[in-house]
Amino acid sequence: MSKIILTGDRPTGKLHIGHYVGSLRRRVELQNSGEYDKIFIMIADAQALTDNADNPDKIRENIIEVALDYLSCGLDPAKSNLFIQSMVPELTELCFYYMNLVTEARLKRNPTVKTEIQMRGFGESIPVGFLTYPISQAADITAFKATTVPVGEDQLPMIEQCREIVRKFNFTYGDTLVEPEALIPQNQVCCRLPGTDGKAKMSKSLGNCIYLSDSEEVVRNKVMSMFTDPNHLKITDPGSLEGNAVFTYLDAFCKDEHFERYCPDYANLDEMKAHYQRGGLGDVKVKKFLNAIMQEELAPIRARRAQLEQQIPEIYEILKKGCEVARAEAAKTLDEVKAAMRINYFDDEELIRAQAEKFAKKDN
Ligand code: TRP
Repeated sequence: MSKIILTGDRPTGKLHIGHYVGSLRRRVELQNSGEYDKIFIMIADAQALTDNADNPDKIRENIIEVALDYLSCGLDPAKSNLFIQSMVPELTELCFYYMNLVTEARLKRNPTVKTEIQMRGFGESIPVGFLTYPISQAADITAFKATTVPVGEDQLPMIEQCREIVRKFNFTYGDTLVEPEALIPQNQVCCRLPGTDGKAKMSKSLGNCIYLSDSEEVVRNKVMSMFTDPNHLKITDPGSLEGNAVFTYLDAFCKDEHFERYCPDYANLDEMKAHYQRGGLGDVKVKKFLNAIMQEELAPIRARRAQLEQQIPEIYEILKKGCEVARAEAAKTLDEVKAAMRINYFDDEELIRAQAEKFAKKDN
């Protein structure tokens, strides 16, 4: 069986380093591993509209931002097919058929949806499109017969629900769809990178994100004002790692080789952590070290972005081609789905013949 990747992001803002360590970095590695037969990366505008129906302009503006982030991180259109969800209407049609296989109760039990409903304060007034987006996501994944879905940890319930839909479909209509597997970061801290303020999640509204497109200076300022240990007042005080965002980021970004380059006092992160906990290591030194690592990682991305920003029409052309390829692929699956459901009336010569016979008999 061929190995196929599908994944994507909602274009509700520029991508930040949480997206990067959570999924983007991995996608580029998977792309370059050469192990996958096909790779589809989708800008999920239709899904973004499920809770931004009143603000389509926000989605419209951010499509290019996400595309720029993708390309500047190293996604290569020659290897990965980049496309826009709403330009593949077959996905909507698949979703409509899958809706019959899922109950409202099941949707309301989806932990990610549950949290999001709370966060957005929908109460009892949940937009139907929002509640059902896991079904639409199952359509996205199955349309491409994806075997592998590299995502952040918060997406696991979506993949689980997709697998259920696949099993239900295949059981009801015969083997047609492929059950995907989620691929989440191996490094636990990368699953949920906190905001620079130490809050659980990076979010634009909290203003606690470091964006892939931030300038060198902005990154430095954000790193130097990061949340650490509020009780670590004097350098000689023992410091705590618990909830200390700077050390969490180091867990996500730091490799031993960084110490040789930027902080030769220590051989590795464990030594640095031990010193911090003992007392005698100041926050500024740790932050400067983190800043050096972040700049090293982000500089090439930023440089590529600056170039790509001069090629906007070409990027739209890449997306347009990607949409065509994606559409052809999704149309094939939709044909198979309709055949399995036996709603492919005009292609079904046997149906026409049998019914002709039936009615001919009745007339006699
Ligand atoms: N839910 C994803 C997000 O919030 C975006 C998405 C839509 C997606 N369809 C998908 C991810 C299919 C993986 C597979 O970013």
